[in-house]
Amino acid sequence: MIKVAFAVVVLTGLALAAVQDDLGKIVSGAEKTKATKKKLTADQAKAIATACGLKPEDVETSVTILEGWAQVPDAQTTDKARVLGIVVTAKGPKGAIKIGVAVAADEDRIVNVKVLENKDDASAATADFYDQFYGFLWSGAIRKSPDDLKAMLAKSKDNKEAAALLEISVGMRRLGVNWNALVKKADKTSVPYAEEVAKIYDAAVKRVGDLAFLTDRQRKTLSEDLAKAAKTMRDVIPKLDGTDTAKKALAEMDNLCNRCHAPMRSRFIDQREKDGVGNGWLSPEVELVIPLEGSKELWDAVAKAIKKAVLTIRDAK
Ligand code: HEC
Repeated sequence: MIKVAFAVVVLTGLALAAVQDDLGKIVSGAEKTKATKKKLTADQAKAIATACGLKPEDVETSVTILEGWAQVPDAQTTDKARVLGIVVTAKGPKGAIKIGVAVAADEDRIVNVKVLENKDDASAATADFYDQFYGFLWSGAIRKSPDDLKAMLAKSKDNKEAAALLEISVGMRRLGVNWNALVKKADKTSVPYAEEVAKIYDAAVKRVGDLAFLTDRQRKTLSEDLAKAAKTMRDVIPKLDGTDTAKKALAEMDNLCNRCHAPMRSRFIDQREKDGVGNGWLSPEVELVIPLEGSKELWDAVAKAIKKAVLTIRDAK
């Protein structure tokens, strides 16, 4: 009898482990998922700690990598692609936050980031922060340290084009966060977000002249499109009353985002890499917008853990 009871406990334990180790808890609709134990060498762990500004003991060397098939953001097809995931723990100032991070196996892109357990205060689970990682593309900058980031920021000041690229991209990321907040309600309380979006377009127009990698014609088109986007945004502000009409006006603006991104985004991303201001620092100092709730320390800890997760997924064998 005792043996049977023991067997039941063991089996339940295994079933629970299987649920816990499911990529589906990080990416909805993930299929064919499995979990594999993998290892980092001491050198890899050290390099990851340096890149993240963590202590070596904060980087685990024995990890479980989740694997499965899921839809990847911005993909050209609706076919599922291979996706890898991991669960890491961020040391928040008040408690631990367990975060699931998933990346595309064949592309340097984050698929999703999700809070799985939060022992810090409630703000540690603010969705607006994590939404920023959906589809995030990274470059070699992700391997660099906080000191490298300081050096990059100082150096970019000597190069007009790099400074303009950085300002436009940081601005656009802030635009994305404000836009998400705006479309949620599309009512009077959303007006400040709309005003912020318009201001970010205005600021971008002023920097287009410094983008030497574009032709005169491309610069002209881009500044006209940005100015038009600012005007369209301001025209929508009086219509923000939470009705379907307001939402429809915003949905039309969504086309404007895509029409500009389709020809421009990848060229910007390539040029940023060439100018040494590539995407991938995963730092609140450049790419991440910190929510008003929660301390800077909290968001910093979360960002470091997410960066550690991405690098661990890539390096663990
Ligand atoms: C007139 C052109 C234009 C319009 C309109 C535009 N964008 Fe952008 N956006 C860009 C360019 C150029 C980039 C590339 C900047 C970069 O990543 O360096 C970009 C990048 C972004 C990024 C950052 C992506 C990343 O990986 O870092 C976000 C987020 C974004 N745009 C949101 C929006 C949203 C939301 C809208 C519409 C409400 C919009 N943009 C409309 C030109 C535009």
